[in-house]
Amino acid sequence: MVSLLVSVTALAQEVPQLGKNSIDEVLSAMTLEEKIRFVSGIGMADTGGNGAVIGRIEGKVPGASGATVAIERLGIPSVILADGPAGLRIDPVMVDGKKQYTTAFPVGTAIASSWNKTLAQEVGRAMGNEVSEYGVDIILAPGMNIIRNPLCGRNFEYYSEDPVLTAGIASGIVSGIQEYKVGTAVKHFTGNNQETNREKINDLMSERALREIYLLPFELTLTKANPWTIMTSYNKINGTYTCESAELLTNILRNQWQYEGVVMTDWFAGEDQAKQVAAGNDLIMPGGEVNATRIKEAIEKGTLAEADLNRNIKRILALVLQSRTFANYAYTNKPNLTQNGQTSLKAAQEGMILLKNEKGTLPFAVGKMALLGNASYDTGTGGTGSGEIQTAHTVTFYEGLGKAGFQLSAALNDEYLAFVKDEKAKRPEQTQMFEKLQDIPELSISTTRLETMATENDYALITIGRVAGEGYDRSRDTDYYLRPKELELIRNTAKAFHNKGKKVVVALNIDALTDTTQWRDLVDAIIITWLPGQEAGTALANIITGKENPSGKLTQTMALQYEDIPSASTFGGTPKDNPTDADYNEGIYVGYRHFATKKQSVAYPFGHGLSYTTFKMSSLKVNFKNPTLQLSVKVRNTGKVAGKEVVQVYVSAPAKTTDKPAIELKAFEKTTLLQPKGKQQIEIEIPIDRLSSWDSTRSTWVVEAGTYTVRVGTSAENLLLTATFTIPQEIVVNYN
Ligand code: BGC
Repeated sequence: MVSLLVSVTALAQEVPQLGKNSIDEVLSAMTLEEKIRFVSGIGMADTGGNGAVIGRIEGKVPGASGATVAIERLGIPSVILADGPAGLRIDPVMVDGKKQYTTAFPVGTAIASSWNKTLAQEVGRAMGNEVSEYGVDIILAPGMNIIRNPLCGRNFEYYSEDPVLTAGIASGIVSGIQEYKVGTAVKHFTGNNQETNREKINDLMSERALREIYLLPFELTLTKANPWTIMTSYNKINGTYTCESAELLTNILRNQWQYEGVVMTDWFAGEDQAKQVAAGNDLIMPGGEVNATRIKEAIEKGTLAEADLNRNIKRILALVLQSRTFANYAYTNKPNLTQNGQTSLKAAQEGMILLKNEKGTLPFAVGKMALLGNASYDTGTGGTGSGEIQTAHTVTFYEGLGKAGFQLSAALNDEYLAFVKDEKAKRPEQTQMFEKLQDIPELSISTTRLETMATENDYALITIGRVAGEGYDRSRDTDYYLRPKELELIRNTAKAFHNKGKKVVVALNIDALTDTTQWRDLVDAIIITWLPGQEAGTALANIITGKENPSGKLTQTMALQYEDIPSASTFGGTPKDNPTDADYNEGIYVGYRHFATKKQSVAYPFGHGLSYTTFKMSSLKVNFKNPTLQLSVKVRNTGKVAGKEVVQVYVSAPAKTTDKPAIELKAFEKTTLLQPKGKQQIEIEIPIDRLSSWDSTRSTWVVEAGTYTVRVGTSAENLLLTATFTIPQEIVVNYN
């Protein structure tokens, strides 16, 4: 009896345990059934993955979006995944008897508009602190698809039309978050540039556009910041789902880029789970019975090798080993919310862009302000869908400006809030999770009322609001272009106030770009606030009063009209009513690459953003010392108030053997806060292979020989300094 007991215990001890035994030993102890279960995640713990619903995993972290499967007998816990790009998307947590919310940061586009990598890292740290202290292992962020067209419904989650800018900001966010020993999931890899039919759409693009525009941001971020995981996109590229593409996930990602982290699918992406496993998509989210059946059948039929399953499992096990959960981290549910709120405010301020400021209209000395527009009172702070953050309270523009000392009408606040509430109540209910809600009309203010307001107030501020979300795209006519009532409000307010010699400012509280051409000449100043997170009103007030000097810059070109945008006619795909294919026939000529090359006028160029002070850039020095291009430039604050400027480095290639855009952003750096007369020397190094183009015939990156021009300035059109250097011989950049 005694000996039997001993041998049973010995047997039990022999079961390999993750952490104590090697990954290979743990893997070899897994049954095929366990292996098949393990490569699929769970989206809803209490139903074992069936009927998974995004954002509703119950159990350890309510409101998280998913988890990996636990195998207790092998000591493998479940790691928790939660959205999303504007902060941690989980349900509020009860702390000391009170509901506690996570911090709502500004949306991705707003953070990127700061052009500040250090700030992005600081935002990342604040997010990382919340991810780690709320018991989450991986945040499903950042969203880093290219902003190809202003109508994409998820642009707000993304950063820019440019790969280098996107990668610079994404790397900051990723490294900041991962300092907390929690992971990120850079997404959506790649080509998720529209929401219409996103699960099926087939992006048709050249290999060159794929490499230079849609893969490059990921490649640079992976190299710089090594995100723990990557999330593939829903769409197909040239006929193959990204999550089922061995070319993308094994050849490019693993063999060429040497990426060793975990690849997961987007939720319910693709069609063939066995193909996903074979392609190198390690984790299939959010799981479900059907995955297991398909994978099992494929193994039984011999169309899927168990070796592929094993390879993927090893990568997931390495991820589990690395996690806070595995380390039994005693998370507190008490992140530093006060400090993170301040970081959110800082990012909101630096992300705001002063587009126009006629005759120094802004800043305003505090006085009596006519505050107009629904969004001044019902201020948009974030987008909807998986990137939405639940907040306890956000500071509306009305509240923020009021706190800053502006005299505002409380009665008007009541009127607007009641109107918005009424209009929202009239809207038909959403029938599915990701459905566009009907727009609500702008409150009409009669011309006589505006005339009285113009007499009683010192100036007017009108807010135009747009919020979009996951699952649908924006409308050209009613989202991109202003609606008739909005135009009427701007026109009538401008008339009434200008008649009295008073100024009118427009704040664009928008998820993505809107037109300005139709109305910008009517107003004195324009600020893009984006969807600035929970501190929206405080941030705007600080910019309006000049407490904070605006330093945000456009991360995308503002065209004169929608039709000028290179993807205008192809965006959304064909056939129009139920698109299957999206033709990326503009190739690499996205955004300013198109406008600068075609010398086509724009409303506001890429990189543009004004300040309350002036800067001088001088002494550009360029030194090409293979393998890097070193450059330095001096920036001096020549104005009267402290401020920050962004040094934007564009390069023009010789373009003798290769078709090249007129300019391409190759680096950028933001100064620190420069006091009047203060100066800073900015030093930048650009690896020479970053000047290369993808040569589809040779399937490699090539830097052509010849004379290159470096152009440094403050926007794609305001290029102040130039210098040249020569590359004597063609350089072929190989992946080793
Ligand atoms: C989105 C992802 C998100 C996931 C989990 C999907 O619908 O496309 O970005 O991370 O849901 O919520």
